Amino acid sequence: MTAPHVIFDRVSFSYGDRSVIPDLSLALSERRVGLIGSNGSGKSSLLRLVHGLAQPTGGTVTTVGLNTKTDRKKIPSRVGFLFQDPDRQIIFPTVGEEIAFGFEERGLTRQEAQREARSWLSRYGRSDWLERGVHELSEGQKQLVCLISVIALQPDLILLDEPFASLDLRTRLAFAKQLAALPQPLIMASHDLNFLARFDRILWLEGGRIRADGPPEDVLTAYDAAARAQPEVIS
Ligand SMILES: Nc1ncnc2c1ncn2[C@@H]1O[C@H](COP(=O)(O)OP(=O)(O)OP(=O)(O)O)[C@@H](O)[C@H]1O
Ligand SMILES: [Mg+2]
Repeated sequence: MTAPHVIFDRVSFSYGDRSVIPDLSLALSERRVGLIGSNGSGKSSLLRLVHGLAQPTGGTVTTVGLNTKTDRKKIPSRVGFLFQDPDRQIIFPTVGEEIAFGFEERGLTRQEAQREARSWLSRYGRSDWLERGVHELSEGQKQLVCLISVIALQPDLILLDEPFASLDLRTRLAFAKQLAALPQPLIMASHDLNFLARFDRILWLEGGRIRADGPPEDVLTAYDAAARAQPEVIS
């Protein structure tokens, strides 16, 4: 097993008075880690903590060897993050600028960055999107732009918060194939249990605690059974 790319050491996290993660310790070294759990169970919060977008109230988070508090500024160049809501991710008016931005951040000239953006869009058969206004795109199209911009930068670790939520079936299948082939480790929150079935490890969160942790054949089966046992509960 390789060195852990994420370590939580006695991590707690609150929004004001509301405790979201009471006390979490874990080490993740697997290539594909899935996060499941009901709405509000803490999946997005955990991913935000991994990236340093949220800071723990107590304890420490170490991501790709960096302390997310003291080394916070170094994390974006090493770790890609796909937000659950594309509107929180997108900064620029056009698709080309949005994808080029990350390359400029990494020191490429504007021209080189635009060339990269063009090349990545054509790789996904979306060359005609270069000049498109991002906010004219549909939800699924925006999500695709965000996914392309994360993958294009080839970070050391990729965090995906429900990347497939708005994608149509064909795009979802194409992306699932792409993600499966990526060499980097991924941590992905998802309600798509079929996709997670091929992962190495699944964490099932409830109330910010780990309810189950293990291979998909055990954890997904238990999660599915628990959900079916309480079909009337809307959380
Ligand atoms: N900005 C916020 N301010 C206060 N509380 C928040 C905020 N964002 C999330 N929470 C609370 O934190 C808890 C965990 O939320 P989180 O978004 O991590 O859940 P989740 O598992 O990602 O849910 P979902 O499946 O709906 O995406 C919830 O109880 C939620 O109400
Ligand atoms: Mg979420």
